[in-house]
Amino acid sequence: MSYDLAVLPGDFIGPEVIEATLETLEALGQLAGLEFSFNRLPFGGGAIEEHGEPFPAVTRDAVLSADAVLMGSVGGPVGDHPWNRLPREKRVETGILALRRHLGVYANLRPVKVFPGLEKLSPLRPERAAGTDLVIFRELTGGIYFGKPSSNSADRGVSTMVYERYEVERIARLAFETARGRRGRVTNVDKANVLDVSQFWRDVVVALHEEEYADVELDHLYVDNAAMQLVRDPRAFDVLVMGNLFGDILSDLAAVIPGSLGLLPSASLGGTVGLYEPIHGSAPDIAGKGIANPVGTMLSAAMMLRHGLSQPGAAAALESAVQAALEDGPTVDLGGNSSTAEFTAAVITRLETAGALTPRARQPQPA
Ligand code: NAD
Ligand code: IPM
Ligand code: MN
Repeated sequence: MSYDLAVLPGDFIGPEVIEATLETLEALGQLAGLEFSFNRLPFGGGAIEEHGEPFPAVTRDAVLSADAVLMGSVGGPVGDHPWNRLPREKRVETGILALRRHLGVYANLRPVKVFPGLEKLSPLRPERAAGTDLVIFRELTGGIYFGKPSSNSADRGVSTMVYERYEVERIARLAFETARGRRGRVTNVDKANVLDVSQFWRDVVVALHEEEYADVELDHLYVDNAAMQLVRDPRAFDVLVMGNLFGDILSDLAAVIPGSLGLLPSASLGGTVGLYEPIHGSAPDIAGKGIANPVGTMLSAAMMLRHGLSQPGAAAALESAVQAALEDGPTVDLGGNSSTAEFTAAVITRLETAGALTPRARQPQPA
């Protein structure tokens, strides 16, 4: 099988974690009989410099005809920087939102897993972190990120959180369906005690649960308490579902439970072409040092193989190789010494020595 991938390396560490991941995909492809073509496209701050906008037409067109979109990360340093002084519609982050809308990817899956034997990498006590296996379903194309009115003038700033029934139903449906294939529990996270939009969100989730998913266990947490419970006892969670802003915040918090923000992958689904990207940003503070952790991007590529390209065997092989390489030598952000290049070489060695393909991936694929 051969696949055309639209690759958006992005800014600062984006290209570093992307090139590391493409190397592992090449190696995996050789072992699994898969061919990948990588179409690297301008996106983010670099695209502003070259094309005057973060999400230029060439990229807009190419992502829609790809089999999947693999992205690094974009954006400039936090604080005063020319990219942060641009009008809102020209900013890098607005380009990300436009990409998500363009692809129609309303469901952002962010799985958080502490690999057995790697509990020691967690900032939590190992016995608290051990066994953590949860997935956040973050609504990605609505809520306060897109609501109107929105404005910023001398004496007044406005953003609006708005959800339509269909937007809540479709993300909640995916969360319930996923829970059926896991431990059968969904935790809905909102702020229904204060926000009308959240009470609406909760009412829609409850109604859908009663009508179609009564076999799934459903509970509710206010977002402030959810942040605390995630740190106190992450193993208590199975599937979590929430709106755009709450999902952004809680997923950075949850990402660090396995050890570092650099570990967490994501898949954005719901359109015809999926978007796969680590959840971290462009980390200008460590760019160019060769120490960026590529695991979040590699595991995003594994999610791409599973969800976008229907290659679950190859996905599992890549995940096992990443886990084994973390055992061999963690990256700098995890307190280890492995550079991006050393870690990538370790993943490839692990792929090769395992012959790393499950029987299913070794079978010839139907045309
Ligand atoms: P960040 O995620 O870039 O960095 C936060 C901290 O985590 C930094 O100390 C960084 O060094 C570290 N870190 C992040 N990824 C790492 C990795 N792979 N390996 C090792 N360490 C890693 O967040 P920020 O500093 O708030 O944002 C920087 C820029 O990134 C901003 O312009 C922001 O808008 C953008 N951003 C982009 C995306 C995206 O492309 N999807 C996501 C988040 C933030
Ligand atoms: C993420 C990022 C983005 C978001 C920003 C950079 C637009 O933080 O992917 O988590 O808030 O969605
Ligand atoms: Mn974020």
